[in-house]
Amino acid sequence: MDNQPEICFVASEMYPFSKSGGLADVIGVLPLTMHKMGYKVCVITPLYGRILTANFRPRLVYEDLKVGYPWPETTTDVYRADFKGMPVYFLERGEYFDRRYYYCTYKGDYFDNCERFIFFCRAAISLMQAFETPPKIVHSHDWHAALVNPYLYYQRRFNPYWKNTSTVFSIHNLAFQGRFSVRLFWDCGLPYEAWNMNGVEYYDSFNLLKGGIAYADKITTVSPSYAEEIITPEFGCGLEGILQNRSSDLQGILNGSDYEIWDPSKDRFLEANYSYDDLYGKHLCKKDLLKLLNLSDKLLSRPVVGFIGRLRDQKGIDLLMELIPELVSLNVGVVVLGEGDSRYEIELMNMVESFMGHVAGIVGYTEEMAHIIQAGTDIFLMPSRYEPCGLTQMYSLRYGTPPVATAVGGLKDTIIPYPDEDATGFIFQQPLVLNFFDEIKNALNLYQDADAWKEMIIRGMRADFSWRRSAEEYIQLYENFGYDL
Ligand code: ADP
Ligand code: GLC
Repeated sequence: MDNQPEICFVASEMYPFSKSGGLADVIGVLPLTMHKMGYKVCVITPLYGRILTANFRPRLVYEDLKVGYPWPETTTDVYRADFKGMPVYFLERGEYFDRRYYYCTYKGDYFDNCERFIFFCRAAISLMQAFETPPKIVHSHDWHAALVNPYLYYQRRFNPYWKNTSTVFSIHNLAFQGRFSVRLFWDCGLPYEAWNMNGVEYYDSFNLLKGGIAYADKITTVSPSYAEEIITPEFGCGLEGILQNRSSDLQGILNGSDYEIWDPSKDRFLEANYSYDDLYGKHLCKKDLLKLLNLSDKLLSRPVVGFIGRLRDQKGIDLLMELIPELVSLNVGVVVLGEGDSRYEIELMNMVESFMGHVAGIVGYTEEMAHIIQAGTDIFLMPSRYEPCGLTQMYSLRYGTPPVATAVGGLKDTIIPYPDEDATGFIFQQPLVLNFFDEIKNALNLYQDADAWKEMIIRGMRADFSWRRSAEEYIQLYENFGYDL
């Protein structure tokens, strides 16, 4: 087959084909960046039902490829698309992936998530084994793809096809581990010896993420600060022990920002485009946002704060909810886009009702609104309790919307905090309401000083988090195995 991939990404989401959060953004751009740099890269991902309905027709390349799980006879069909010249392989098994949501409904996780992603990992390996030559690097992401690592670890012992392949596992969020009953381990195809405290076992449960950490040759996470945090009990989500054991193989590589998609000078979702040397379009975007969300036009001359993200404790949405009445009393507009925990969704709707014209809330997931809010608000709020990297603050910097964020993970690594003379945003230490409010007030004060505010906006818009730098770091990591890629 032409263009044999040497680097295979295995991940459960890839923008624009599927997305529930930042993982999809990363898989939509990092491999492509490597491809553009001349490396032979491919992505392997599930064929979710919606991909075919989205008027997108990948080509069937393997029919009935044997997977052998959950039944010895189980197979997968594999479809291939060229995404801007890079091959993307979609693994098809309708019973598992043709569903309304990716991982859960409002009632909770799909009951068969473990089987779904065991199947995914085993099917990915079957596919790579069908290639003419084995890949040099298999780079898997998060708990859904984690089992690729123990499978390949054991395959390498007896299957010569795999003996020159190395594995890299990236943790995008340690809190999502994929923990299941031991029962599901028995027939997953790993040898019994993997069931131990240095393997996939975690207090009697089958922990897929832990399997990735235990068996990958190298482990990365998405910012240098998060790499330091996750070896501590405060941020380690119970896996700090094994991460400490593997700390010499653990590295933090900061994510980037996809400026093909997230750039106000060419963003097709915006009412007007703008750049740091001409900010007039941002004013028009704010006007458009206020109109679109039925917010008072008086807010045009007042600061409007924005939040985009999963409505979960991780993101500190509860801290913002508590502050909304205070912000309204300061005559500040508030715009929230998110979905997640139903109690926060309901609380948000109540806030909208109580503060009509001052607070707008959209419960749901719309890519277009995320762009419109980034451009149309003045200050971006990100009071996360932990943040492996965070992409939205990088987007907000580019959109001239200085962030107010907690001093954690990637937020610390991407925002230069006020009052530094190079400041691009605002950082507060502990995720507490009072700290958050104090920092928002600092931002509101600076906003009053039009010149100083504009300077901060311009510094943020000029900050460069392009993916090439991150891609080079990953390539270096791959080459350290001794490959000539
Ligand atoms: P996480 O991956 O933890 O959710 P990130 O900041 O890394 O956080 O990435 C979140 C991505 O998901 C961004 O592209 C953001 O714009 C998008 N996003 C989050 N919530 C929504 C939503 N409700 N509607 C549209 N896009 C959203
Ligand atoms: C996760 C993290 C987020 C990170 C994203 C992409 O979802 O929560 O901080 O930016 O993955 O790596």
